[in-house]
Amino acid sequence: MSFTPRFPMFLHGGDYNPDQWLDRPDILERDVEMMQKAHVNCVSVGIFSWALLEPEEGVYNFEWLDEVIDRLWKGGIHVILATPSGARPAWMAQKYPEVLRVDEHLQRHHFGERHNHCLTSPVYRQKVHDIDTALARRYAHHPAVILWHLSNEYSGDCRCPLCQEKWRQWLKDKYGSLDELNRCWWTSFWSHRYTDWSQVEAPSPMGEGSITSMWVDWRRFSTWQCKTFMMAEKAAVQAVDPSLKCTANLMERFWDYDYFDLAEGMDVVSWDSYPAWHSGDDVAKAAEFAMNHDLMRSYKDQPFLLMESTPSLVNWKPINKLKRPGMHLLSSLQAVAHGSQSVMYFQWRKGRGGAEMFHGAVVDHDGRDDTRVFRDVTAVGQALERLQPLYDAPNARAKVCIIYDMNNRWAIDYAQTGMPKNMRYFDTVCMHYRSLWKLGVSIDFRDMRDCTDLSGYQLVIAPMLFMFRGGFEEKLRSYVQAGGTLLMTYFSGVVDEHDLAFLGGAPHGMTDVLGVRSAEFEALYPQDQNALVMKDGRRFPIHELAEIPEPLGAEPLGVYESDFYAGLPCLTRHAFGQGQAYYLAAKPEQEGLDAIYADLASQLALPRALPDALPEGVVATERGGAVFLQNYSGKEQRFTLSGAYTDLLTGQAVSGDTAMPENGVMVLTK
Ligand code: GAL
Ligand code: ZN
Repeated sequence: MSFTPRFPMFLHGGDYNPDQWLDRPDILERDVEMMQKAHVNCVSVGIFSWALLEPEEGVYNFEWLDEVIDRLWKGGIHVILATPSGARPAWMAQKYPEVLRVDEHLQRHHFGERHNHCLTSPVYRQKVHDIDTALARRYAHHPAVILWHLSNEYSGDCRCPLCQEKWRQWLKDKYGSLDELNRCWWTSFWSHRYTDWSQVEAPSPMGEGSITSMWVDWRRFSTWQCKTFMMAEKAAVQAVDPSLKCTANLMERFWDYDYFDLAEGMDVVSWDSYPAWHSGDDVAKAAEFAMNHDLMRSYKDQPFLLMESTPSLVNWKPINKLKRPGMHLLSSLQAVAHGSQSVMYFQWRKGRGGAEMFHGAVVDHDGRDDTRVFRDVTAVGQALERLQPLYDAPNARAKVCIIYDMNNRWAIDYAQTGMPKNMRYFDTVCMHYRSLWKLGVSIDFRDMRDCTDLSGYQLVIAPMLFMFRGGFEEKLRSYVQAGGTLLMTYFSGVVDEHDLAFLGGAPHGMTDVLGVRSAEFEALYPQDQNALVMKDGRRFPIHELAEIPEPLGAEPLGVYESDFYAGLPCLTRHAFGQGQAYYLAAKPEQEGLDAIYADLASQLALPRALPDALPEGVVATERGGAVFLQNYSGKEQRFTLSGAYTDLLTGQAVSGDTAMPENGVMVLTK
C-alpha cells in the first residue's frame, strides 16, 4: 500500500521554507545539491506561505513557487505540498477580523502567531477554499507533487459569535429538544437549567464550567468542526485531482480532538514526533513514542507517515538537548518499525530570525554539509534506501488490543474525582502498553466506535475505561463469551456516553463477566504505602488509585497487603463463557504491571518479535517479517540470539553472541 503512488519509496526529507530565502538564489540552488548529498528525496513546501502566495486579496503570486518546485524536481526531489491555512496574511486579519479566533476567556485575538483561525467563519472557509483550489489547479498535476499536507497541526477551538451559533445548532441536531439536553447534561445541578436555546453558550472559565457532560460535548463539537474544515480543504484540492492523497499532521498526546474520528476524514495519517531523549529514562521515552507510533498506525489501521521530527534538538522544551550519537538513526527507525513510510524533519534549513531560529535543522546557520547532524541525516537516508524492501510491508495484525478512547480521556480529565493529578489516563495506558512492548508483542489501539471489531484478538486491555459508550460493554461481554481474554482496571464502566453515572454498580454491565464489583474508589497520597500481594508471595507496591472490590465469584490472584481493606482481592480472574476476564483494582508500579503481563503473555503464548531474552532496554519490534532490534538502555549490550539473521542495514550476518552499541539499531531478516 502506498499513499504516494507517484513515488512509492520511503520518504526522507522535511519541512522546507524557501519563502524565507527568496533573496538568496545562491542558497536555494545550494539547497538542492545538499539535499541530494543527504539522500533527501522529498520536502514539504508551502506550509506557511499564504502571505507570499496571495499578497493582496484575490491576487495570487505563484511564480516563486513554480521556480522552487521546478528546481526541486530537476534535482530529483519530490514535494509534499501544503495548503496554507495554518496561518493567514495580515491583510486578511485586518479586513475580516472574523477570521481571528475568540479564546476561552472570550477575547478576540489580534493578528499574529498561527493555528488560531476561527473554524466557522464563512469568510475564512471561502478564502481557504479559493487558495486551495488555485494551488491545486497550478500544481496537482506537477510530477514532483506527491501528496497534500492539509494545513498544519489543526488544533484548538473558537468561541466567537459564529462558533457559538454553530455550537447551538450542533446541539439541536444532537439532542432534538432542550428537555433532552437538560436531561443529558444534568442541568438541575446548581440551577443551571436552560429554558431557551439562546441561553446556551460554549463552556468557558468566564461562564459555564461545571457541567462536565457539556465539556465532553464541546470536545466532540470541536472535533466535528475541525473535521468539516479539514474535509472542505480535502474536497477543494481533490476536486482538481482526486488521485492525489491528503494527510494532516497530528501531534503526540493531543487532547483537543478525537483523532480516531478526525483520521476518518483524511487518506493517510501523518504526525510530528518530538521525544525528549536523554532527559532521564530513554527506555520510558521509547515506550511512550512506540505507543504514539502505534496509535498513529491504529487510527486508520494502515501505515502512516512521520511528517516531522528533529534532526538534532528542538527549541521549545524546558530543556533542549541534542540527540546523542546513534539516537537519530535509532529513533528514526523506531517510526519505520511501527509502520511509517517516511522519516521527515522539521526543518531542512535554520531560518535567520523569528521564534524558530534556534530550532534544530539539517542545515545550520553555518550552511555546512560536513556537520555531525548532516552526517546523521545522511545515514538515515541511506538506511531507508536499504530498507526499501520493507516499504510495502505492513505490520502484522496484532493479537493484543488496548482500548484507548478520546471521549473516555476527556471524561476522566473533566471528572472532579480522585485526585486530579492521579488520574493520568494517557500515562496509564502507556504503562500497560510498555509491559508488552518490552516483550516484543505487537499491539493495536482501538476506541469505542461502532466499527471496532475485537474478534481476532487474544487479549483486550481496557485500562481506566471510565466511560462506556455505544454499548461497548456488550462488545466486551461477547468477546469474552466467545473465548477472549479481557483485562480491565479500576475506574471502568462508571459513566455513560453523556457522562452521567450509571446507576446500579460499576463496571456497568460487566460485574457478572468480571466476577467482581467496584464498591468504593479512592485516591492515595504519595506517602501512602500498600501493595498487591500475589498468591505466590510476589509483592507489587500500588500507588495513586485504589478500589475496594466486592467479590462476586472471581478467583483472587492477589490481595491488598494493608489498610482496612487488607486481604480483599486486588487482582482477580473470572471464567466467563469460553473466555476469562481479569480485573485489576489498583494501580501498580511499572514492575507490577510487567509481571502481570509477563504471566499473561506466557499463558496466552502471545506472538513475540524474537523468542530470545533480551537485556532491559533492548527491544524487538516486528514489521513485514523483519525484526527491528533497538537499544535504548544507554549502554552497550550483549546477548545471545538463537536464530541466524542478516542485518538489512549493514548486510552483515548476525547470530549467537551479539553486541549492540549504546543507541544501536539492527534490522534482522532471516
Ligand atoms: C511543529 C510545527 C512546526 C514547527 C515544529 C518545531 O509542531 O508543526 O511548524 O514549529 O513544531 O518543533
Ligand atoms: Zn469562531
